[in-house]
Amino acid sequence: MKFFVDTAEIKDIRDLYATGLLDGVTTNPSLIAKSGRDFKEVIKEICETVPGPVSAEVASTEYETIMKEADVLRKLADNVVVKLPLTVDGLKACKALTGDGTKTNVTLCFSANQALLAAKVGATYISPFIGRLDDINIDGMQLIRDIRQIYDNYAFSTEILAASIRTANHVTEAALAGADVATIPPAVIYKLADHPLTKSGLEQFVKDWKGTGQSIL
Ligand code: G3P
Repeated sequence: MKFFVDTAEIKDIRDLYATGLLDGVTTNPSLIAKSGRDFKEVIKEICETVPGPVSAEVASTEYETIMKEADVLRKLADNVVVKLPLTVDGLKACKALTGDGTKTNVTLCFSANQALLAAKVGATYISPFIGRLDDINIDGMQLIRDIRQIYDNYAFSTEILAASIRTANHVTEAALAGADVATIPPAVIYKLADHPLTKSGLEQFVKDWKGTGQSIL
């Protein structure tokens, strides 16, 4: 499973990339607003930091303007993935962009039918939002399972990018459900390494090692 980080904070991205755990980055207009940075500037900086796919989202909702914005975004760097809303205009733009080799991420997916449409127009990634479905008492993980089955039934190559991940458990479940990618907030990525038995075991090893009076170096 590939790990993308879901943030526009360059320091978090640099730190995570240095761990070797990061395959890519996703952003959205809310994350850009939170960063307080200039959109194009921050996307360029992220693309220089991480060689993998970096999703940058269009702001318009109408086909003609979406296409103009996509043209600007894809020229920012070779690893930009144009993120498009799951609307008819967004899907139409996805089809056109796919046709000329641009990578796309269709976002705000909340149903299996929406995911089917994104695959039909050749999206590189589909982003089902797990946490936001859970928020309204709908099982977000079931959506990942359903999309996996549909995509496998028809051998669609669109990758399932599990988004709106809020907990470490979401990551485990998305991996079990067969998501190709998880886009995860930085704090949750670090939490994946935590286990109380690892912590207590290591404390004991450090203590016992000190007791030997030896040094490896
Ligand atoms: O990748 C989409 C993600 O940023 C949405 O997450 O927590 O705002 O639902 P959230």
